[in-house]
Amino acid sequence: MSNDELYAAAVKAAKKSYSNYSHFTVGAALLTSDGKVFTGCNIENASYSLTICAERTAVFKAVSEGYTDFEAIAIAGSGNDDFSKPCFPCGACLQVLSEFCGDSFRIILSDGEHSLSDFLPKRFNEDSMK
Ligand code: THU
Repeated sequence: MSNDELYAAAVKAAKKSYSNYSHFTVGAALLTSDGKVFTGCNIENASYSLTICAERTAVFKAVSEGYTDFEAIAIAGSGNDDFSKPCFPCGACLQVLSEFCGDSFRIILSDGEHSLSDFLPKRFNEDSMK
């Protein structure tokens, strides 16, 4: 699957966003190493802090279905249906991605491809606790 196709899947997933409070819609499309795509959207709550981001929705859907090897994620976010501006992943989502993904994991935004290490060069992980 091309980066453009994965980004298009993220834009499509953003249409399902439940974002009654921020009115900022986010979609994510997570590509597994065997070519399957899990999508997710942000899901907000009247108790604001219970909101979950699109990226974590996609990761948790995938892991709960038995998939833990990932190659790339596309992220699309917009407050006005224009998905041309890059929507950067938040720190919480980067930390969750880093549990399963290495430095070369690709993060595809509207401005092109990045790596996980671009955004999170040093991480807290299992080794940090040894
Ligand atoms: N949001 C995401 O879905 N992913 C991110 O990486 C950043 C923020 C959502 C959370 C909330 O519903 C809305 O964007 C505004 O913060």
